[in-house]
Amino acid sequence: MIITIIGTGYVGIVTGACLSEFGFDVTCVDNNPEKIALLKNNVSPIYEPGLEQLIRSNANMGRLHFEGDVSRCVPQSDVVFLAVGTPSAANGEDVDLTYVFKAVEDIAPHLKNGAVVVIKCTVVPGTSQRIRNLIGKLRPDLDFSVVSNPEFLREGSAIQDFMRPDRVVIGIHDERGRNVTAQLYRPLSLQETPISFVSNVGAELSKYAANAFLAMKISFINEIADLCEKVDGNIIEVSEIIGLDERIGDKFLRAGPGFGGSCFPKDTRALAAFARSVNAPQALVEATIQVNEDRKIDMAARVLAAIGNPTGKTVAVLGVAFKPDTDDIRESPALPVLDTLIKNGVKVRAFDPKAMEAAAVLYPDVVWVDDPYEAVIGAHAVVIMTEWNVLRALELDRLRDAMAYPLMIDLRNIHKRKEPTRHGFTYMSVGRDRAKPTSVAE
Ligand code: UDX
Repeated sequence: MIITIIGTGYVGIVTGACLSEFGFDVTCVDNNPEKIALLKNNVSPIYEPGLEQLIRSNANMGRLHFEGDVSRCVPQSDVVFLAVGTPSAANGEDVDLTYVFKAVEDIAPHLKNGAVVVIKCTVVPGTSQRIRNLIGKLRPDLDFSVVSNPEFLREGSAIQDFMRPDRVVIGIHDERGRNVTAQLYRPLSLQETPISFVSNVGAELSKYAANAFLAMKISFINEIADLCEKVDGNIIEVSEIIGLDERIGDKFLRAGPGFGGSCFPKDTRALAAFARSVNAPQALVEATIQVNEDRKIDMAARVLAAIGNPTGKTVAVLGVAFKPDTDDIRESPALPVLDTLIKNGVKVRAFDPKAMEAAAVLYPDVVWVDDPYEAVIGAHAVVIMTEWNVLRALELDRLRDAMAYPLMIDLRNIHKRKEPTRHGFTYMSVGRDRAKPTSVAE
């Protein structure tokens, strides 16, 4: 089977590399020549564990190719995946489908008879029907199918998520769509991965519903963490206990500074806006969004309050990526913390194992260093924003000795509650201590 993938963002490049690993002949197309040049040299444009090796080995086997021009690969392709970006629209809420429809216009003249167009991007219900209508208008004589196949991969574990997913969702309107995608995902069905064939709208909706539900779980546990702080409870205990109930499940119950990334914030807003537009408002999703926005601001305010008078103070921020194992800082809860500190005249020193390059462009006034021990030199507080393993393994005595004042604000709860205190730190974490209203770093 010959496959073209349009778009080499996270989803496109991971899908392309993994499908070529299944043995298919895959060409990834992007209109950004720099990305294509990098990929032709087997360099991944994004940091994702295992991805570059997968690209290199499949390109060397002659199964994975890169191309800037759709006319060179779409005419031969049995399947064309759409994996272009679906950013938020200018109003910050609706999903902007411009790139999707532009890609459809680009490929339509080149599609061969019997081609299957697979939508990997996250799109609002009804989009696949609009794509069918558009291709039908542009190519009235073409026999084709449109399949909705949302992707559930997580940054940082994208290859594993593609190769061993909990399920594969396939939205179809005809038998060809079913047969071709069944063949595509045969390597997964052979290893007992559930493959759900549903309608196109069913697939489009399930992607939004899954992301919104997970985001809601996080906002829920974050609010319970606030409650724990008021009554001397311990959110770790509460999460563990409720997670043991199989109806609830133990995943996505880690309290923290709020969810970020390229999906949850954007997808929850898009779902809420879409639902409002069809007069089915989603109160829980709307509340999830608000709780998360408020939380990010509250976390930044907490850090500022903890250092007292900001004049002459230095704060070390460890971790700026929205989660570990990625260089992505989109909607990271670390950003409002940096903004607040800088706005209040605090000197900020910061470290992140992968995301510093992107963050340094946005925050040139921050002193970026490649070592966490160097980041804390002279600091009146150290704030842990991302649960990188390298931060879990820090020698606390060494950290403390480099600081001007030993205050640790651990917004990811990476330490055991008493551990930093034993090493002489004043320790603040999430949902495990009564909130400290006054400054501790004076
Ligand atoms: C998410 C979905 O998990 C994935 O299925 C979808 O395809 C894309 O969106 P991703 O954004 O890569 O994936 O990261 P994820 O691991 O889901 O984390 C999202 C955010 O939630 C991060 O900021 C993370 O720190 C936060 N989070 C996650 C918590 O605060 N607590 C948790 O318990 C879990």
